[in-house]
Amino acid sequence: MNILLTGGTGYIASHTAVVLSSLGYKVFLYDNLSNSKRQVVTQIKKITGSAVTFIKGDIRDSDRIVRLLKRKKIEAVIHFAGLKAVGHSVDRPIDYFDNNVAGTVSLVRAMNLANVKTMVFSSSATVYGNPTYLPLDEIHPKLAVNPYGRTKLHIEELLQDVSDADAEWNISCLRYFNPIGAHESGFIGEEPSDRPNNLMPYLVQVALGDLPYLRVFGGDYPTPDGTGIRDYVHVMDIADGHVAALDFLSKNGGWHALNLGTGSGCSVFELVRIFEETNQCQISAKVVERRPGDVAESYACVEKAYTKLGWRAKRTIPDMCYSAWHFRKNRVV
Ligand code: NAD
Ligand code: UD1
Repeated sequence: MNILLTGGTGYIASHTAVVLSSLGYKVFLYDNLSNSKRQVVTQIKKITGSAVTFIKGDIRDSDRIVRLLKRKKIEAVIHFAGLKAVGHSVDRPIDYFDNNVAGTVSLVRAMNLANVKTMVFSSSATVYGNPTYLPLDEIHPKLAVNPYGRTKLHIEELLQDVSDADAEWNISCLRYFNPIGAHESGFIGEEPSDRPNNLMPYLVQVALGDLPYLRVFGGDYPTPDGTGIRDYVHVMDIADGHVAALDFLSKNGGWHALNLGTGSGCSVFELVRIFEETNQCQISAKVVERRPGDVAESYACVEKAYTKLGWRAKRTIPDMCYSAWHFRKNRVV
């Protein structure tokens, strides 16, 4: 089966490409390289031993995508392409809506014209906003609190309308919780181009000595140790979730939203401790002010993903900490 991955050289897409390619899918990566590097393609080949095709391009170039879908006989699209930094989205909402929302309109239009009507979309737990109850299930109110989150919500709604209008469409919106970690080979992983915003890449840079200490955003949350709790999930489990979603869509039409998480929360202090124990290192950390927009606690109800997709996260927090560190220590890209 021929699959197009938009945002194909990015963090989550590259791990998904490895799994798909290993299972015999023919994988095409489409990316404008705004937040990733072409060398990722070589790294994927090192892991799988088989070539994946890279095409440099932007999802807003609808005509190009129509030609690509037809020429390469694509049967399904996994749509990862998007801008994802919450802080930037507050400063640059027009860029975020143009890239993420208008980009998806352009992609869906192209898919319609090429009669490719199966899509897995990278959504986010951020669509839920501040939890009104936990664990977060898929019917929890959608209260996205920043422009990035609202782009995800608008895209989900657009895709639902597309599916309602044409029964031939099969769409899964996968709401990732906090994907971290890297492929066990150490050949691919998360490598933000700027100073990291998210916890794991920041932690890794402190461990490397590139940053002096971890700023723990808030030590007075109503959680057992006072620090924020999240549902960290291994990026390779997330990659497996996409295969399960493609399989599901081959048998089920319509629009589906599904959480991908472990169902368990882990605090900042717990993650730091497990990182230190697993990787035999010391992390300096200082509690600072809460980060605006952060919630105390967020974790998924994962029953729907299990019932519908037969998918459960398997890897542990030590697996996530080990692989993230192994990738950065041995970084070659
Ligand atoms: P990433 O930045 O590593 O990957 C996104 C890729 O999309 C990049 O390679 C970038 O160059 C490309 N891209 C961006 N705009 C494009 C455009 N207009 N045309 C073509 N390519 C374009 O991010 P990631 O962490 O791999 O995230 C993948 C998707 O998952 C994103 O949509 C993100 O919003 C979503 N998501 C990520 C997380 C997370 O914690 N990483 C959580 C929830 C949802
Ligand atoms: C953030 C985004 C979310 C996005 C996700 C993946 C916000 C408010 N939310 O989620 O929309 O989908 O990234 O890109 O930005 N922390 C520290 N010190 C740090 C970094 C983080 O203490 O240097 C803490 C945070 O306060 C939080 C936890 O670590 O409690 C996880 O933070 P992070 O990795 O940024 O993820 P989220 O905030 O959950």
